[in-house]
Amino acid sequence: MKIELNSPLDMHLHLREAEMLKLVAPFSAQSFAGAVVMPNLISPVDSLQKIKDYRNAIMTACGKENFEPYMTLFFRSYKRTELAAAKEHIIGVKLYPAGITTQSEKGVKDFDSIQETLHIMEELQIPLLIHGESNGFVMEREREFLTVYQEIATNFPNLHIIMEHITTTAAIEFLEKYENVSATVTLHHLMLTLDDVVGDLLQPHLFCKPIAKTPADLQALRQAVLGGNRKIMFGSDSAPHPRHKKECVGCAAGVFSSPVALPLLVQIFEEEDCLDKLQAFISDNARERYGITPLEKRLTLTDTPWQVPQAYGDVRPFYAEKQLRWSIS
Ligand code: DOR
Ligand code: ZN
Repeated sequence: MKIELNSPLDMHLHLREAEMLKLVAPFSAQSFAGAVVMPNLISPVDSLQKIKDYRNAIMTACGKENFEPYMTLFFRSYKRTELAAAKEHIIGVKLYPAGITTQSEKGVKDFDSIQETLHIMEELQIPLLIHGESNGFVMEREREFLTVYQEIATNFPNLHIIMEHITTTAAIEFLEKYENVSATVTLHHLMLTLDDVVGDLLQPHLFCKPIAKTPADLQALRQAVLGGNRKIMFGSDSAPHPRHKKECVGCAAGVFSSPVALPLLVQIFEEEDCLDKLQAFISDNARERYGITPLEKRLTLTDTPWQVPQAYGDVRPFYAEKQLRWSIS
């Protein structure tokens, strides 16, 4: 059996920098026509010069692959001239609440102070990508943050807002209320609940932000994605960390899923008998919501089983050592 995908896109990806970038970028470049690249580097990507330098480094790491990195600026207060100059080089601006996840210390501390920049973004039609979690109880963070989403979506009706890596029933319901709001969903959040992370022996390689939630939340996510919700795009949130940062005291958040993303997505959609919905989730919804035309790239997957290695370099991938049903050919 054979599945063809037309220009798959990963609308939320961490490529890191230096040696890690060289290690992980080829997996995304082989599987996808393009990816939205997150700006949370050690020194955040928060200027046009940094965007250009980072893009060049990514292109070098991807080699000859036909792959478009859609760059994002790290949210801070920007002047109109800065954003106007950056506009043609970016797909959006990524907002992190300060300290909420990996390398987000320079994120937003005071949400009252961001209005001016949002106003400019709305005028210039630059999308706003948000890591939407409060600093409350870990299982409630996403739900609590909905009030912030609501305020921004109401005050800036012409601003395209993307709720990144949503994990809850509440977020799915919220999404329906505002035409200017879209969302991404990861692979691992379509497969895991909190039980998989901490229910038995602690699984550091499944620890991520936002944390996987309840069985009911998992069901709601799967229903929305597999049911063909056109506002939801695939975004892997593939976030590699070296093993010593995962298998230690103070485990870093992130699941490295890019090598297995397409095979596992095909498997999920096949098992639920909705392969006809995969092309929209993996590409068409993103084209529509962002108004982008990706590079032409056809990916073929065949039902040839393979075993995921226990590590790529120093990084343990999602589904390590397990057998997958589908391979990219
Ligand atoms: O688990 C996560 N890892 N969530 C994020 O939001 C960031 C990411 C990272 O950069 O490691
Ligand atoms: Zn992320």
